Amino acid sequence: MVCEVEMIRTIEWAGNAVVMLDQRLLPGQEIYNSYTDYRQVADAIRSMVIRGAPAIGVAAAMGIALGVQNAKARTAEELEPEFARICEAIASTRPTAINLFWAVARMRRVFTRARAGGLDAVRSALVAEAQAMHREDVEANRAIGLYGQELIPARARVLTHCNAGALATAGYGTALGVIRAAVEAGKAVEVYADETRPFLQGARLTAWELHKDDIPVTVITDNMAGYFLSQGLIDCVIVGADRIAANGDVANKIGTYAVAVLAKESGVPFFVAAPLSTLDLTTPDGSLIPIEERDPEEVRSVLGSRVVPEGVGIRNPAFDVTPNRYVSAIITERGIARPPFAASLRALAGK
Ligand code: MRU
Repeated sequence: MVCEVEMIRTIEWAGNAVVMLDQRLLPGQEIYNSYTDYRQVADAIRSMVIRGAPAIGVAAAMGIALGVQNAKARTAEELEPEFARICEAIASTRPTAINLFWAVARMRRVFTRARAGGLDAVRSALVAEAQAMHREDVEANRAIGLYGQELIPARARVLTHCNAGALATAGYGTALGVIRAAVEAGKAVEVYADETRPFLQGARLTAWELHKDDIPVTVITDNMAGYFLSQGLIDCVIVGADRIAANGDVANKIGTYAVAVLAKESGVPFFVAAPLSTLDLTTPDGSLIPIEERDPEEVRSVLGSRVVPEGVGIRNPAFDVTPNRYVSAIITERGIARPPFAASLRALAGK
């Protein structure tokens, strides 16, 4: 059975604007915001209108293309200092997802290559690059899906954490792309989604997009994952990644580490699905990955209602690092990396 479904539109280039589905409002409202200034795009990334490492990368590229399109400079030379400011504003939005810095670096390289051709050449080259990144991300996710679905049994109960779906990418998704590909291959997949406090990406976003695609999904609170794993109710775990260090340590949404340890303890395979743009070969291991600490308000209140007494301290690290010993395989668009990851990841990256 093959069941192709219409893809969710996470982000699009609209000529003079970047259009994004506002993920803060899901599942209640499906609203698309149109941004005409790169500073608005930077704010949208920071405030989680758009989130998920690959989607952040595409938004960064489109934000830079937009900024350059609107710049007042009359020559490519005059544009240079403003281009640097635009890149800096975009790069300073979120520190953990490497796709953001990968995208900015890629746009910088295009600027350098195109500048001899003049201002118009720079503008059109940057727009073309941002659009290419959007296209390539969907293609990468499709390839990740095809490789990854081989790891999924014909009947499978799959646990996932956060949202590594169409909403976290330019489309189709990484971890959820593997699930979609398994369903398209005729497998009977049932998904368990951790709700993912505090931003509730699992409850709000993963559940929304899988339900829309008629893929069976059940939401559990984060502290239920150990119960389901220990009871033999989960066949495998699949998550995405925000940054993968050269040794295969994986930074992903806070709570991923706990799930990985529980999976190992329960004898359940733990898979990571991510494009090679998430691989950071310049960072030797996970201890060197910067972890974003977000606004305490995200923990203090749930959907606008305070749940922590006034005056009580709050911490809100947004990511954690899963050491490579808990990772069974890393699924990329070029194939599946197995331990030892230092060698297998480098080989897939062709480095
Ligand atoms: O804070 P977020 O929502 O941007 O965090 C997202 C995640 O941790 C995802 O799991 C990760 O980016 C992979 S998305 C394909």
